[in-house]
Amino acid sequence: MEIQGSVALVTGANRGIGKAFAQALLAHGAAKVYAGAREPETVRDPGLVPLRLDVTDEEQVAAVARAADDVGIVVNNAGIAGGPSLLEGSFDGARREMEVNYFGTWAVSRAFAPVLAAHGGGALVNMLSVASWVANRRLPSYAASKSLSGR
Ligand SMILES: NC(=O)c1ccc[n+]([C@@H]2O[C@H](COP(=O)([O-])OP(=O)(O)OC[C@H]3O[C@@H](n4cnc5c(N)ncnc54)[C@H](OP(=O)(O)O)[C@@H]3O)[C@@H](O)[C@H]2O)c1
Repeated sequence: MEIQGSVALVTGANRGIGKAFAQALLAHGAAKVYAGAREPETVRDPGLVPLRLDVTDEEQVAAVARAADDVGIVVNNAGIAGGPSLLEGSFDGARREMEVNYFGTWAVSRAFAPVLAAHGGGALVNMLSVASWVANRRLPSYAASKSLSGR
């Protein structure tokens, strides 16, 4: 994956690891980095190009794929953790994890597949978790929601 001179999109880029990904891409020579965020005004680094993106909103995903049609690197970083443990707690958090981590990541991947293809294949980076590899009764729905691979 060549970063120098590339155009990239990072989802959930307003804070945490997504913000660090976006800043690292710029530091390694990316020509343009789109910062997807549910509230684009929270993207404060002037080197980034903010775009409104809630990955669970299909219209926003489609609009971002149209607006950022020069992208060659997509970093699917947006994600949440907040599901119940195996034997206790509401399923609401588990459903939300699946909406954001699983279907949101899948939706962004699908929307940008033709954009990446148009740029010679590009790179799609899904921010998953070691939790998806090991049985864990504290995070069963998070683990399932992170079991998403393009292979
Ligand atoms: N931290 C870890 O130890 C760790 C380990 C393994 C994997 N990961 C994964 O790495 C990624 C980043 O983790 P983090 O620790 O940086 O988390 P974080 O600080 O909680 O940041 C999560 C980011 O995702 C965004 N987000 C949440 N729901 C979204 C939605 N529906 N649409 C678009 N953006 C949304 C948040 O935006 P708002 O500001 O709007 O909420 C925020 O920018 C996640 O996918 C996480 O599962 C983290």
